[in-house]
This record gives sequence, C-alpha cells and structure tokens, in this order.
Amino acid sequence: MAIGLMDIKGQYAELQERIESAVLEVLRSGRAILGPNVKAFEDEATAFLGTAGAVGVANGTDGVTIALQALGIGVGDEVITTPFTFYATVESIVQAGATPVFVDIQPDTLNIDPARLEAVVTPRTKAIVPVDLFGLPADADAVNAVAAAHGLKVVEDACQAFGARYKGRRAGSLGDLAVFSFFPTKNLGAYGDGGLVTGNDTEALQRARELRFHGSKDKKTFTAMGYNSRLDEVQAAILRIELEVLDAWNARRAQVAAWYDRHLPRQVLRPVVPADCTHVYHLYMMRHPQRDAIAAALAERQIDCAAYYTTPLQLQPALADLGHELGDFPVTDAAAAQNLALPMHPNLTEQAVQEVAAGVAAGLA
Ligand SMILES: Cc1ncc(COP(=O)(O)O)c(C=O)c1O
Repeated sequence: MAIGLMDIKGQYAELQERIESAVLEVLRSGRAILGPNVKAFEDEATAFLGTAGAVGVANGTDGVTIALQALGIGVGDEVITTPFTFYATVESIVQAGATPVFVDIQPDTLNIDPARLEAVVTPRTKAIVPVDLFGLPADADAVNAVAAAHGLKVVEDACQAFGARYKGRRAGSLGDLAVFSFFPTKNLGAYGDGGLVTGNDTEALQRARELRFHGSKDKKTFTAMGYNSRLDEVQAAILRIELEVLDAWNARRAQVAAWYDRHLPRQVLRPVVPADCTHVYHLYMMRHPQRDAIAAALAERQIDCAAYYTTPLQLQPALADLGHELGDFPVTDAAAAQNLALPMHPNLTEQAVQEVAAGVAAGLA
C-alpha cells in the first residue's frame, strides 16, 4: 500500500467533530478577523510556550519580517542566518530591508553553527536568525552568548518546531522574538495560512501587534509602515483545538522516529538529537550519499519521500548579489546533496516504518 509523506486527512479525522463545530460557530458569529478566537489562541499559545506574549499574523514569512522590524532591524543592517533553511527565512530578512549574511551549519544537527558566528560579525551586524530546522531547536545558549557579546538581537525562526524543547524551555521562547508558521503541513497546522510572533521582549511584541495592522494601535493613528498580516478567526479556532493535542501528536512522531532509528539500515545517517533537546520531527530527515538511488527505490514501492533545499540559499538566483559559489559552505552543500525526508506523521505504524526501511535498504543494494 502507498505510504504518504504526511497525513493531514488522518489528523483531521481525529478532531473532525470538534473542528467542524468550532468553524461553524465562527461562521455564525459574524466575526472573521482578529476576534475572540485569535485573542484566546494568543493567550493559550503564550501559556504553552512560556513567553511574554504572542501576536497572531497571516503567515510565518510575514512573521519573521515583522519580528525583525519590531526589533528595529532595517535598511543598512546585516542579519546572520543559516543557508540551509526554507527560502522564506532569508526572504523575510531582505523584506525587512536588511542584508543576509550566511554561516555554515553543524554537520550533526544541521542547525546554524554558533562557533562560526563571531567571524562574520561586523559593525553593521544587528541580529541573528537561527532556525529550528526540521523540528530541532538550534543551540540557543551559544547563539545568545554571541548576540549578548555584540549587542545583537535574536529572532528565532521556530516555524518548523512548535512544541520542541531546548534545556527545558520551549522553542519559541529562546530569543528576543520568535516566529511560528501554521502552514497546513506543520505539526501545528492550520487549514490555510497562519503564523505567530512570540518571545520575551514585551515592547517589541507590542510593536509587532501594531505592525500586523498597518502600524497602528487604534486603527486611526498610523505610526509606522506596517502590514496587513492578521490571523483569521477560523484558523485560530482550529489551532486552539489542535494545541490541546499537540504534545500527544509530537510524542507519537517521536515514537515513529524511534522506530526509524531502529529499523533503518546501519549506513544511513539518522537525525541527531542533543541530550538536552526534544525534537518534534516536523520531518524525519535521513542522510546518505546515495540519496537519489534510495528515493528511486522508495518511489518504485509507492512510498513518498522528498529531498529538501537541494539548492541551498547561497546558490539561489535571487541571492546572486551576495556572490557565493558552491564550496563556500561545504557542510550545507553536503546536507543539500544527501538529505531525504521519509514519511512522518502521528499515525504511522511500525509496520509502515519497516516497509520504508526495507525500501531504503533496497536503494542501497
Ligand atoms: C524555516 C521556515 N521559515 C519560514 C517559513 C515561512 O512560513 P509560511 O509558509 O507560513 O510563510 C517556513 C514555512 O514554510 C519555514 O519552514
């Protein structure tokens, strides 16, 4: 039987009655934008994450731009980030008016390598954007130490990591501000676009709240050039229900990951999880130099898989001005060439995992 990469329909079925009645309630309420569900979701997410507050926005891409702008980052500033992430991370930095500066990733976690940060700090550097890639928090203490030493802001791109933990703290609480995406495939996924700006800087959160509504506190006086970037009531009502089960869903993902760790062929590199972190496996990313052969063997068996970020950001045409070439970030280049996401969702069985593992082994034969 075919095995899908994700299972949005299965997750929906589990909550179907609750989601449908909550959506109906919103439709009948006549409140579509920034109503009681958005407010309640912001409060519930704040309590879940242990942050100072949260601001619902239209998507994660806007969220990162708004977070940077709320922290005073703009034209002429440099922002350090990873080249091994979704394009939106760097797009948001450019949309905020700043110039992205890349440093390579760690070979084990695939997250930004804090040991490489100092070398690229200049007088124009104003912020660092670490990404909690595939559901694993970046090394926040090490990143924050460099930021503190140079007076930089930290915006945690936690778009892929709702529910993950770093030394007991939740992803989303690790920098000055942080951002989540609720794109439907995310662990906490909406039924459309959605996002959240959260974090510990109360004043910056207030600015983000204004920026999402055209730079206005009261809809009458406009104090900044902002955005029309609001979370809507239907999405917020659904997210509130999913937030209640998210830890349980993430625990089931962790069980699936443990089965992969057990059943995959020995030669395949598995995700590395530092002892003090919880990975929420937005994606289960294996690595092997024969990635394409493995993908072909899986496709033959009707098993979905996907290579991610195969052209890393430093080599994207839109960023040609930065002047990078293959080899500038060799750890990123290797990750781009070798990664393969295997099916991962809360409803995957051990038997299905064994079938995937057998497909991976066939690709290596
Ligand atoms: C790491 C990362 N940053 C930013 C984004 C942007 O989020 P959105 O798609 O909600 O705009 C995503 C989502 O896909 C992401 O994975």
